[in-house]
Amino acid sequence: MTSQVRGSQLARLLGQWHALPGRRRSPDYAALAAAVRGLLADGRLPLGVRLPAERELAEALQISRTTVSAAYRQLRETGHLASRRGAGSWTMLPGTHRVATSGLWAPLDDRDMIDLGIAALAAPPELVPAARAAAEDLPRYLGGAGYHPTGIIELREAVAQGYTDRGLPTQAEQIMVTSGTQHALDLVLRLMLPPGGGALVESPTYPNGLAALAARRARIATHGLAADEVGWDGELLLGSLRQSRPKLAYLIPEFHNPTGHLMAADLREKLVATAHTAGTDLIIDESFVDLPLDRTVLPPPTAAFDRHARVITIGGMSKPYWGGLRIGWIRASAPLVQRLAAVRVGMDMSSPVLDQLVAVHLLAVGPTIVAARRRQLTAQRDVLIEALAEQLPEWRVTVPRGGVTLWAELDGPVSSALARAAEDVGVRLAPGPRFGLDGTLERFLRLPFTLPPAELVEAVGRIAAVRYDLDRATASRWRDPVVIA
Ligand SMILES: Cc1ncc(COP(=O)(O)O)c(C=O)c1O
Repeated sequence: MTSQVRGSQLARLLGQWHALPGRRRSPDYAALAAAVRGLLADGRLPLGVRLPAERELAEALQISRTTVSAAYRQLRETGHLASRRGAGSWTMLPGTHRVATSGLWAPLDDRDMIDLGIAALAAPPELVPAARAAAEDLPRYLGGAGYHPTGIIELREAVAQGYTDRGLPTQAEQIMVTSGTQHALDLVLRLMLPPGGGALVESPTYPNGLAALAARRARIATHGLAADEVGWDGELLLGSLRQSRPKLAYLIPEFHNPTGHLMAADLREKLVATAHTAGTDLIIDESFVDLPLDRTVLPPPTAAFDRHARVITIGGMSKPYWGGLRIGWIRASAPLVQRLAAVRVGMDMSSPVLDQLVAVHLLAVGPTIVAARRRQLTAQRDVLIEALAEQLPEWRVTVPRGGVTLWAELDGPVSSALARAAEDVGVRLAPGPRFGLDGTLERFLRLPFTLPPAELVEAVGRIAAVRYDLDRATASRWRDPVVIA
């Protein structure tokens, strides 16, 4: 089935399309084509969707049909659009590009690009010794068929021990090993959310979380996080649970991606109680829980307040260890873990045994690895903040107390335009709207501090240069209010 984007939807996504950098020098059709390419490149406009007919888009944007025709023609020429007479036009990935891990598009030859679209660290030095030790362990498993839908027992025990050490007593049978946290989320949604079911998420939130919900055709409602240090507005959050009683809520209480916020203990407690009354299941994504910075003390895990099996916790090794390991997990009641295993068998059977053994060895030296990660991230965060203060002093940044990302408030609604301009000077950015629904959040930009300091400083210098150009080209335009049909 081909999905279709309507003229009004595309107009909303395009927002200030006429305010691209260098815009005054390019004709309208080229600016429109560039804006559509930008939406495709950052994943807001999916691949294989049918674009509105030329006349419909022209009406929605209040421009001439000739301009839309010329823009579509240019998109066909660059390989972004395929058209068939009478059937319409579909978005396509040009042969010169690939979809990068972040979901953003990348040219095939982009080795010199500073990629700030991905919020993850390179592998720690302990990975290779752990892989060697795992290979030594492998013979113990070779006598069986190797399928362990809930994971190998050694890893389930190690993960359960991690929760117990955090003050949340956990048995191995409450753990299911998955191929990453994203897989964990997808599995839980398959089991817990009927197609079209209601889900509450934070705004902004993790884009691939939104993608997993969209795949279930969820009816998504949002709770807006404040840009200040607190983040969640407890009253509003609990109020929306009470009123809309969604089937589930997907939340990231520890060093939230992208804002870095940490939810306080008292709100966690009230959240769990209110969710129970509302009949809402909570999916708590703990991807960043191992990465508090500045001696920040962690509140108890959200599941510690759960007396009615309302909380399903997901987590994994991608952020503190390495994303390439593809190890994540779900913590739930033992019966729910069995039901998840039954769903999982129909998807991918089980996770690779060798990778799970590597994970066991890494967790055994976990405290050393994680301590080094936290030192590295603290230093990189501070370098990034200093570079921003020097080069882009109008931007406002709340210092995150953990995690791997800054959520910068910009000096204008220019995030998408800035991301497009930055691409031309070798910096890939994930613009604010990618973390929300409906093209809002143009005033924000997520900046991860996972790259080495020199690259962060270089990236900020390049961003500052294009930010300045953008203003010269478009200052008077992006301040104009636009009417969107
Ligand atoms: C909040 C959140 N959840 C899940 C994931 C996916 O993690 P994994 O690599 O374990 O699938 C990420 C990765 O960026 C994330 O930020």
